[in-house]
Amino acid sequence: MLTRFLVAAAALVSAASAQLTITNPSSDSWWVAQSSNTLAWTCNTSPYSNFTILLANSNPSVLVQPIAIIAIQENYDCSETITQQQSTQPAATGYTVLFANPLNSTDVYATSETFEIKALGSSYPATSSSSSPSGTSGSSSPSSTSTTGGALAQYIPAGAGMALALAMGLVVA
Ligand SMILES: *[C@@H]1O[C@H](CO)[C@@H](O)[C@H](O)[C@H]1NC(C)=O
Ligand SMILES: *[C@@H]1O[C@H](CO)[C@@H](O)[C@H](O)[C@H]1NC(C)=O
Repeated sequence: MLTRFLVAAAALVSAASAQLTITNPSSDSWWVAQSSNTLAWTCNTSPYSNFTILLANSNPSVLVQPIAIIAIQENYDCSETITQQQSTQPAATGYTVLFANPLNSTDVYATSETFEIKALGSSYPATSSSSSPSGTSGSSSPSSTSTTGGALAQYIPAGAGMALALAMGLVVA
């Protein structure tokens, strides 16, 4: 009975972890050129504590290779406003945002849906979190203590979870 519960719990944990998804931009949530745009991701389920953010385009005449727009982004920020200084890319379709290993940018953790950068002056997507929503961008910094604890828990493989957690003294009886 207990075993079955633990297996189910472990399965849930494993389904919820190791999941980093870029939620904005997306196929129906574009960016606007030479403007501030919002980048957002599933920080709560991300197994990574930081990453490099790159911009790519499927058309080599727009971008020959991915370019880094943020060298090190902390996962706990959950979203970031990309300024026109960080991304000076022209209006075009076929863009993707990549989150990659800061030590090896070909080790890609997550890729956004293909999205469009529309011309300067275009309206932002209706439902979007584009422009600069207060309170959602990088200003809040939860204590690194809790972030570290959460990140550590995410790293524990499902099968070994309880034993490892006990061994590491993470489980308070
Ligand atoms: C990024 O995360 C790794 C491991 O998760 C850590 O070792 C490294 O110090 C972090 N780098 C920065 C710049 O925060
Ligand atoms: C970088 O990551 C790629 C993809 O995961 C891998 O094939 C390659 O060996 C890595 N390079 C280094 C130097 O670790």
